[in-house]
Amino acid sequence: MTFVVAADAYDRFMGRYSVPLAPQLVDLASIAGGQRALDVGCGPGALTAELVARLGPEAVSAVDPSEPFVEAARERHPGVSVQEAAAEELPFEDGAFDATLAQLVVHFMADPVAGLREMARVTSEGGVVAACVWDHAGGQGPLSVFWQAAHELDPDVEDETQLAGAREGHLAQLFEAAGLDGVEQSTLQVSVEHPSFEDWWEPYTLGVGPAGAFAARLDEARLAELRQRCRALLPPVPFVLTSRAWAARGLAR
Ligand SMILES: C[S@@+](CC[C@H](N)C(=O)[O-])C[C@H]1O[C@@H](n2cnc3c(N)ncnc32)[C@H](O)[C@@H]1O
Repeated sequence: MTFVVAADAYDRFMGRYSVPLAPQLVDLASIAGGQRALDVGCGPGALTAELVARLGPEAVSAVDPSEPFVEAARERHPGVSVQEAAAEELPFEDGAFDATLAQLVVHFMADPVAGLREMARVTSEGGVVAACVWDHAGGQGPLSVFWQAAHELDPDVEDETQLAGAREGHLAQLFEAAGLDGVEQSTLQVSVEHPSFEDWWEPYTLGVGPAGAFAARLDEARLAELRQRCRALLPPVPFVLTSRAWAARGLAR
């Protein structure tokens, strides 16, 4: 499991993109004061923080299967109920929430349809289920340059393009397969400035997610080659990386 890593490493690797993404997913879910919301696959709590800002900690619950992330989310968000659990088996009663969200998680679920079905089950009738996944297949995700360089290095590398929800239309298909009503697909976009190449590169060496796991398997010379290939593909510094995520929302029955 490539998410059993320190929360700080996650922040530097992915939190830099997921923090600015969170308000957009919360808007897509039409979150409004007085609602109870669940953050599925919360990680250290990028989306949790946005839900707390809108609803208050007592109205927010969160789950993640990674122990260090659960600990970090508990520490960072006092008052939020954070439990160690996977989407496919949520420890809540039917209809416990008005809205259930999963930011950058569906593609890591062992069974995405089962996970989304569980998200629908714990959402009250007519409540919103919403999720987003980076556009890995379209080469528009924040990790796309890294994976392009990895392909140059090793044409057989297994990147994230084939993962659930990472190609156009697939997330909406999964929502429909999970039995959600009125499914709508859209896109979300974030722009993040990188002041230096090192600022962009160094988090890839921390072992986070499939990209970090790939880098960790390389010997020193191959890692240096990968780094050079990334540098050649990126614009001159400072540069702004604009990334796109596929998003979907649907209503629980
Ligand atoms: C890219 S991170 C996203 C974290 C957070 N939502 C964010 O936006 O920063 C993916 C998260 O999904 C979690 N995860 C992996 N498999 C999962 C599953 N089956 N159910 C729920 N979460 C899962 C990982 O532990 C990790 O925290």
